[in-house]
Amino acid sequence: MSNILEVSQLTKTYQSGSHSLTVLDHVNFSIAEGATFAIVGPSGSGKTTLLGLAAGLDKASSGSVKINGIALENLNEDERAALRNQYVGFIFQNFQLLPTLTALENVMVPMELRKEKNIKERALTLLEKVGLKDRSHHYPTQLSGGEQQRVSIARAFANAPKILFADEPTGNLDEETGKIVEDLIFDLNKESGTTLVLVTHDLELAARTQRIVRIKGGKIISDTAQEEAKV
Ligand SMILES: Nc1ncnc2c1ncn2[C@@H]1O[C@H](COP(=O)(O)OP(=O)(O)OP(=O)(O)O)[C@@H](O)[C@H]1O
Ligand SMILES: [Mg+2]
Repeated sequence: MSNILEVSQLTKTYQSGSHSLTVLDHVNFSIAEGATFAIVGPSGSGKTTLLGLAAGLDKASSGSVKINGIALENLNEDERAALRNQYVGFIFQNFQLLPTLTALENVMVPMELRKEKNIKERALTLLEKVGLKDRSHHYPTQLSGGEQQRVSIARAFANAPKILFADEPTGNLDEETGKIVEDLIFDLNKESGTTLVLVTHDLELAARTQRIVRIKGGKIISDTAQEEAKV
């Protein structure tokens, strides 16, 4: 099976004045298409940074990221955005909904960018899946944190991504809603073959994936295949 994501010698260093802080230090891993993968580690260990680089949102200091065989470091900003729109979905730690658009419009954006058909209908179906059909005309500020998170999940699904990056996808949800969202994410893997890369503090969620990478101080300290994914 081919690799949908290849990360090699990935390093990120932040400079502030004469001081430099290396938050990711020569990280290497590859993910096969259709696999499920969890990144775990303490707060500040570099998980969100790693996800941002792997998804092409941010630029590395050195090293390489390939999505579907395409090296991100060789692309300009517009080419990276086009690649993301074609292959990648994200669920962010802080949602990143567009504040001037309603829930429905936020979910419609990726499909509009791709000039697809029946957009409104499909966006409503996705909102229904996450239990928010009756909130479709609310703006992000009129929604609770958990509701905003569910809108961002519906939006990520609207992209029909080949690879979905999710940063603490259930971190702000109550147990019951968290479980529904978790199941939706794993259904996307089973039904559409979407590769899942999840950052989580929730070890039960991590245990549902096929492989767990542990990161500490910007370095991978273990990379373990689970005997059998428990879905
Ligand atoms: N723009 C920045 N400038 C300087 N340092 C940064 C910047 N962004 C992140 N960092 C630092 O990089 C380190 C890794 O941050 P990151 O957000 O990747 O951690 P994390 O593992 O996602 O943590 P958490 O579990 O709390 O979300 C932290 O020490 C953070 O302070
Ligand atoms: Mg983080």
